[in-house]
Amino acid sequence: MQTIYQQFSVNYSYPVVFSRNVFDRENPLLADLVGQGGSARNRALVVIDSEVARLQPELLERICRYGERHLPGLSFVAPPFVVRGGEICKREPLEVERIHALVERHGLCRHSFIIAIGGGAVLDVAGYAAATAHRGVRLIRMPTTVLAQNDAGVGVKNGVNAFGRKNFLGTFAPPFAVVNDFEFLRTLPLREMRAGMAEAVKVALIRDRAFFDALFASRRELARAASEPMERMIVRCAELHLEHICSGDPFESGSSRPLDFGHWNAHKLEELTDGALRHGEAVAIGIALDSLYSRQCGLLSEIDLHRILLLLEDLGFALYHPSLAWLDVEKALRDFREHLGGELTIPLLEGIGRKVEVHGIDTQLMKRCMVLLAERSARSCRAPDERPGTFIATDTGECP
Ligand SMILES: NC(=O)c1ccc[n+]([C@@H]2O[C@H](COP(=O)([O-])OP(=O)(O)OC[C@H]3O[C@@H](n4cnc5c(N)ncnc54)[C@H](O)[C@@H]3O)[C@@H](O)[C@H]2O)c1
Ligand SMILES: [Zn+2]
Repeated sequence: MQTIYQQFSVNYSYPVVFSRNVFDRENPLLADLVGQGGSARNRALVVIDSEVARLQPELLERICRYGERHLPGLSFVAPPFVVRGGEICKREPLEVERIHALVERHGLCRHSFIIAIGGGAVLDVAGYAAATAHRGVRLIRMPTTVLAQNDAGVGVKNGVNAFGRKNFLGTFAPPFAVVNDFEFLRTLPLREMRAGMAEAVKVALIRDRAFFDALFASRRELARAASEPMERMIVRCAELHLEHICSGDPFESGSSRPLDFGHWNAHKLEELTDGALRHGEAVAIGIALDSLYSRQCGLLSEIDLHRILLLLEDLGFALYHPSLAWLDVEKALRDFREHLGGELTIPLLEGIGRKVEVHGIDTQLMKRCMVLLAERSARSCRAPDERPGTFIATDTGECP
């Protein structure tokens, strides 16, 4: 027997830029970025979210004018290609096929660019199409939702749904660059703004107590999506996600997935409600549930639990949804383990900013936590201005 061991390492780096009005004719940012690809002439296809195109109708024209202004350094091969925004584009293979067809028709190569403008769903679709055409066309992401700017759009993953499963098909493919233009957010509904905040609360809880305190202090301004605290929140949240990617396991070969705090049940709630709950709304419930469970295990203090729930509620999240009653905890945990690939690993909290991982969940205790959340929600409904001072946390079970 003979074995040759192959070993090499690849260094990845990409800028995540925070800016405004990227498609102003005289703004050199995008043209400079593509220029860093090393060619004097850079061919690019723009893919844009249909809601962004609809609500910002002047944008398509501005993109075309920008292309004319920056020729030949940046050359758009076609008018922006509009992709159906939201989860529908990930559910059906049509959009990926169409982007592949455009890559083929316009002769884009591995040195060309796909510039994807949109919410996390459109970015995932365009990213998957870019990563699989010619085994990888360069991708520049321009996220247009809070969730995409602070989370989905800055990392190294893409994916589309298949066989009724979210992100069943996808790749790890670092982008060429990410441009977060805050002006894109001006048409985003408040509900979508809020949904993106759940990921900021999540990453603060597992990594950064000071960031949690800052979110807590500005929670009322954030609840009305005031731009200054919102932009600060996006930058810090994106930064924490990026730090996590390079300090941890960027291509997720292990089973530990700290950023999935609160997600084992959130994914199921999204499925159970058939998308009626936004991802961030489901994550807020997931955070509440896993924080409550952490408390019931004796890991988290009462005061920390109280602050977490208060922050989420003051941001405007409902921390219970009737579909929780239909959640099959055992199956949800099994599916989550499969999604991780390997050993079941659930992040919990032993303090704000401090996560701990466990490899088993006491399902009876978890179900009790769901009942507690339902009771808290019923109390809040009866007296909306009355905040329950403490949670019912008398019986602290053993942490598995
Ligand atoms: N690849 C990753 O690492 C990663 C991480 C987290 C989430 N995701 C994925 O991201 C998706 C969720 O992303 P999302 O929360 O951005 O939602 P989304 O992409 O579904 O967008 C929500 C809605 O907002 C619209 N929209 C987008 N930008 C807008 C704007 N500026 N103004 C008005 N409307 C706008 C969209 O058309 C859509 O209808 C999920 O599919 C999730 O799986 C991916
Ligand atoms: Zn998430």
